[in-house]
Amino acid sequence: MISDTEIKHQVREFYDLVGWQEQSDGFYQNASYEDLRPVSYEYIHNCHLRVLRHLNPTGHFLLDAGSGPIQYPEYLEYSNGYQRRVCADISLVALREARKRIGIHGLYVVCDVAYLPFKSNSFDGEVSLHTLHHLPPDEHIRAYQELHRTLAKAGKAVIVNGLDSPPLTTFLDFWIDLFIRLHAFFQPQPEATSLSQASTSSTDRTKARGTYVRKQNTAWLQMEVGRLMPIEIWCWRSVSVRFLRTFIHQHLAGSFLLKLIYWLEERFPHFLGKNGQYPLIALNKET
Ligand SMILES: C[S@@+](CC[C@H](N)C(=O)[O-])C[C@H]1O[C@@H](n2cnc3c(N)ncnc32)[C@H](O)[C@@H]1O
Repeated sequence: MISDTEIKHQVREFYDLVGWQEQSDGFYQNASYEDLRPVSYEYIHNCHLRVLRHLNPTGHFLLDAGSGPIQYPEYLEYSNGYQRRVCADISLVALREARKRIGIHGLYVVCDVAYLPFKSNSFDGEVSLHTLHHLPPDEHIRAYQELHRTLAKAGKAVIVNGLDSPPLTTFLDFWIDLFIRLHAFFQPQPEATSLSQASTSSTDRTKARGTYVRKQNTAWLQMEVGRLMPIEIWCWRSVSVRFLRTFIHQHLAGSFLLKLIYWLEERFPHFLGKNGQYPLIALNKET
């Protein structure tokens, strides 16, 4: 069995050598996991901005735990009202790239999010996006505790990670698989091939290599994290990239469908946060 140290070594090596390498089209390899097509732009953009609603707008230090290179423009907004953004990441390449974006607004610390080298109550705001799922399972709770410990009194934190087989994704995956099989059956072979590829890999960039990931489910969040600190589960984004690439297309009313999905997420944020693909965990440290 692979040890915790080996897992972290693999993850760091992956991001240094693959994930944060720029591809020929100007994006990092990591963007292969995102839907960056124009038809999805507004939806993805608005989902990124949801994080702002759960952060203190101003403060001294914002911690970005597992910052990567701060790869999307919306991420910059999270620390606009803060004096400094502390980028913490296990990957040196990530931090070098982050420094190209925010320069002296940032402080850059190579460290492990499960063992944060910061004093308690240091940060008025914290974000940790798509990072804790790279930890060995027995360190997930520890990482939440570290984020809670380092958050200042009255500070606010946002943590986003995909869920393990959430009900909505399981339901939609059934229809995606059926749709692909039917399409392959009724369409001539070359087109069928390109459609089934589209669901997982609509361009060459989407043929992504991955690294160690261990996701949790809503029950775990509520039981294991919720008993240790006050959390609220909101919706960051309810649908997977696979769903977007399969069903959302400009010529099939894609923009309209995404407006509808976004409206539903706003209307039922807790239900879709708990049952959709990506919950937003809002953590408020009491005074
Ligand atoms: C999927 S990327 C997300 C980056 C950024 N938060 C984003 O949303 O674009 C995960 C990041 O977490 C970092 N990471 C993984 N395990 C870590 C750990 N134990 N401690 C600190 N950073 C870690 C990786 O190096 C990588 O930069």
